[in-house]
Amino acid sequence: MKIAIMGAMPEEISPILEKLGSYKTTQYAGNKYYESTYRGVDLVVAYSKIGKVFSTLTATTMIEHFGADRLLFSGVAGAISPTLKVGDLIVATKLSQHDLDITAFGHPYGYVPEGAVFVEADKEMIEMSKKVASEMGKSVQEGIIATGDQFVANEERKNWIGKTFGADALEMEGGSVAVVCSALNIPFFILRAISDAADMDASFSFDEFLESSAKESAEFIMKMVQSIIENAK
Ligand code: ADE
Repeated sequence: MKIAIMGAMPEEISPILEKLGSYKTTQYAGNKYYESTYRGVDLVVAYSKIGKVFSTLTATTMIEHFGADRLLFSGVAGAISPTLKVGDLIVATKLSQHDLDITAFGHPYGYVPEGAVFVEADKEMIEMSKKVASEMGKSVQEGIIATGDQFVANEERKNWIGKTFGADALEMEGGSVAVVCSALNIPFFILRAISDAADMDASFSFDEFLESSAKESAEFIMKMVQSIIENAK
């Protein structure tokens, strides 16, 4: 077993690297990859840089070059659902790309031929996350995450994404990581802690809460990793 843990920004993986303590650093395709052993299991950790293209590159590299056989994503998101507040955790049941648009040809938003509007995350890990949440005494919401190459700081755009995809939260990497993992048959789990409400105050809220929300997410991801390792014994 080799578990990939990825984020998009340094703040999203530094709490994980701190927890690991020691690791081997390898530079590959313009990013750093950190390899370590945790409770006897191999891990590869990296941040991709922001957006769908960089996250596609990193997810693919972790799987194809570093040999990861499952992938967990940790990071922050903008809330769409009014029930999600700053610091709350959301686990993606399925993900879409809100900025993928060939509707001019009669296709739905988020769809290209031979693709699908939604990619479903691994059900076993979602199930496991419920147990982990109750052990930690935390509540975690399940929901749909919409991804696009846009920092959304606009109520109208946010509401459109919510309505069009039934999305509860939005971010900039999950949908592309989902496409990669699904195509390569790698079970994946995408967790986000809310940093903002994707409204006109989003950039300020993001700057204020990136670090604390990223930590919330990372802490939960490490408990997930422990649970995966325990279950494999
Ligand atoms: N990640 C966190 N907040 C976000 C936002 N408002 N838009 C896109 N990605 C985000």
